[in-house]
Formats: sequence, structure tokens, C-alpha cells
Amino acid sequence: MTRLPGIDLELSPICLGTNTFGWTADAAASHAVLDGFVAGGGTFIDTADMYSTWVPGNSGGESETIIGEWIAHRGRHDDVVIATKVAAHPDFRGLAAETVAAGCDASLARLGVERIDLYYAHHDDAKRTIPEIAAAFDALVRAGKVGAIAASNFGPDRLREWVEHARAEGLAAPVALQPEYHLLRRADFEGALQPTTEALGLATFTYYGLASGFLTGKYRSAADVGEGARSGAVGTYATAEGFAVVDALVEVAQARGVAPATVALAWLRAHGVTAPIASARTAEQLPPLLAAGALELADDERSRLDAVSTPFA
Ligand SMILES: NC(=O)c1ccc[n+]([C@@H]2O[C@H](COP(=O)([O-])OP(=O)(O)OC[C@H]3O[C@@H](n4cnc5c(N)ncnc54)[C@H](OP(=O)(O)O)[C@@H]3O)[C@@H](O)[C@H]2O)c1
Repeated sequence: MTRLPGIDLELSPICLGTNTFGWTADAAASHAVLDGFVAGGGTFIDTADMYSTWVPGNSGGESETIIGEWIAHRGRHDDVVIATKVAAHPDFRGLAAETVAAGCDASLARLGVERIDLYYAHHDDAKRTIPEIAAAFDALVRAGKVGAIAASNFGPDRLREWVEHARAEGLAAPVALQPEYHLLRRADFEGALQPTTEALGLATFTYYGLASGFLTGKYRSAADVGEGARSGAVGTYATAEGFAVVDALVEVAQARGVAPATVALAWLRAHGVTAPIASARTAEQLPPLLAAGALELADDERSRLDAVSTPFA
């Protein structure tokens, strides 16, 4: 469990992704996932204002709305940490100060909370200077609308600049980075991002921990990819090198008596990730994800997975 400055609650070692909400999971299934996650000890939930705009008929905000309904129904928000993001909703694009402020208000309204626990810049905005971005996010913390701030999909140089500028100026500084990182995409994180986060003392919450489901072991050949909602992303991993990683995951998992998804997420933790993010379409998919918070890989297991995923490093 991890604590971050500005956030009262301890973060669970696995963060629940919620881009499935309003996409592959309807409201009832999403609420069952949230209930199951909390019942299984989860405290950390990741969403974004733009989830799930890519679904025909959606306009963005569906995931936050579903989470807001769940919070309202339970009547409490104090036992979960909600992270959301701004910059990619069709009505709130980029990181201009007025966009960030208006996007935050819209997220607060959809979530039905007085404060967003962790608020991310979803991606960088090259049109804005770092001092502009830093001031926009600092204002939200000072207004009490946000507990802590963070960056997603930032490059190492602009991330460092934001953190160092904010610290030097006495502004709220990012406490975490959310980049993509998993066994089939290692180079960017391990190359420059991870050394930067370590040097700056930032937490890391990495996304696509299951490579969109490819690393659960349910795809063992190209024929398994099919035509589902995830087939586009999963299809890109369906190579000999990708299946070799899955084969190794399945063998390590069988030897440990756990699911391949558990090993895939435990491998991220073994590589220093503070809390990997993974999503579930149904509550039944949750136990292997939650189990990853307690699985410590042995050195030989980690080395084997490191070696077989070298083509992605
Ligand atoms: N910051 C960013 O730019 C960014 C970008 C992308 C994602 N994210 C965050 O990261 C989260 C995770 O990404 P993601 O959901 O796209 O990918 P993911 O976690 O790598 O894959 C999740 C998918 O794998 C399948 N799955 C999960 N558990 C399973 C199980 N036990 N057995 C079989 N299949 C299982 C499910 O899809 P099916 O059942 O449909 O196969 C599930 O939706 C997102 O929800 C979001 O919060 C952030």
C-alpha cells in the first residue's frame, strides 16, 4: 500500500481502470466491478473525462457518470481514491488554464464529489508552457477541488520541467506519472521515463497492464483474436514474439497456481511500478487482478519474463 501527499487514503497495489465503463461494461456490470474491487481490498480507481468517447453514441463522461452514480448509491467516497484526467474530452481539449478549470468542474459534477483525489493532465499540450500548466493545476489544489496532481503520457523532459518548476515556485507539483508500460511495451518506460520518475521521487501508475487482455492468456494464436471490442489492440500483439511472452506467463502462472494476468501485473510491480492499472469487464475478471497485489515473483521468474520480452525492451 502506498501513500501520496495530498491523499488521505492508502492506495491499493492494483489500480482499477475504468475505460470499460460505458463501453464493454454497462452501468450494472460496472457497479458490480466497483463493488467487487472494494470488497477485494481495492481502494484506487482510475478514470478520465473522455472515457468512453470512442463508443458510437457516447460523448465522453460516461465512465465518470457511472462512478458518480455508484458513489451516490453507496453514500460514501472516503474509502476510495478517485483519479481522473483532463485534456482529451471533446469539450475540454488541451491544457489551457480555462480548459483545465472547466474540465475539472465538469468532472466534479459527474462524479458528484467535492474533491477529486488525484487529477491528471491526460497528455501534454505543446501549445502551453510549463509555467502555464503548473499554474492551472496549482489553482485547483489551492481551491480545494483537487487533492493531488499528476501527469500522464508526458515525456521525461517536460515532466521534469513541470516538477522542478512547481517545486521551485512553491506550487503544487505532480506526485505521479501514468505512462503505458507492460511486457509488450518496455522501451519508453524503462529507457527514460522510469529513471526520471525515480530521480524526481514520483509514483508510477502504469496503464495497459494486461496489454488490453492479451496477457491474460486467453489468446494463444492469431485465430483467438476474433472480432471483439478489443480485437484491434490485441491484434497488434499477435506475433510470434507476443505469443512467446504469453507462453512464458502461462508456465510461470501454472507453477505458482495463479492466473497469467496475475503474473503479468506482478511483473510490473517487480519492476518498481507503484500500482499497475488494469480494468475488468465483469466482476468475475477481478480476482486475478487483485491477486497481483500479493504475488512477489522469484528472481528466476522475473528473469525469465525479462528475457522473453526482450524484443519489446
Ligand atoms: N492514461 C492513458 O492515456 C490511458 C490509456 C489507456 C488506458 N488507461 C487506463 O488504464 C486502464 C487499463 O487499460 P485497459 O482497460 O484498456 O487495458 P488492460 O487493463 O490492459 O486490459 C483490460 C481488459 O482485459 C480483459 N481482462 C481483464 N481481466 C481479465 C481476466 N481475468 N480474464 C480475461 N480477460 C480479462 C478485459 O477485456 P475483455 O474481457 O473485453 O477482453 C479487460 O477490459 C484503463 O481502464 C484506463 O483507466 C489510461
